[in-house]
Amino acid sequence: MILTEKETTILKDLQTQEKVCMEHYNLCASTAKDGCLKDLFTQIAKDEQEHYETLGNVINGGTPTIKAAPAASRVDSYQPKAAYTDSSNQMDKQHDALLCSDSIGNEKMVSSEYNTNVFRFGSGEIRKMLNHIQTEEQEHAEMIYKYKKANSMA
Ligand SMILES: [Fe+2]
Ligand SMILES: [Fe+2]
Repeated sequence: MILTEKETTILKDLQTQEKVCMEHYNLCASTAKDGCLKDLFTQIAKDEQEHYETLGNVINGGTPTIKAAPAASRVDSYQPKAAYTDSSNQMDKQHDALLCSDSIGNEKMVSSEYNTNVFRFGSGEIRKMLNHIQTEEQEHAEMIYKYKKANSMA
């Protein structure tokens, strides 16, 4: 697929953003106190890696691809159990709650970047791809919110 110079710049900026997201979640996974939260962060980091690669493919002239698996069902099937109770270490809980809030804030920002940039592309296929990534960012925030809620952090 042929891109304009402006389109290429936008995709490269989005790709840089995905790299930061990936690093953010890997860092969160390594510092989270609860194992279930570590798993969630690790799973999201993999998604961010995929976003990075999906964008890279188009930057390099490839055809936009959309992952076949319906991501929405993943959010529905994510039913976190409470890892923290009143008798848990409250410092650990606070630490993990902060990682969650931080991550939700990031997803909100990233999602709005996709929302703005989708309007700048001529190709419907690229628009669909960006829209799909945006939906996944919103789902990341939703899963983290579910975790917070299950742990009385929200
Ligand atoms: Fe992403
Ligand atoms: Fe995300």
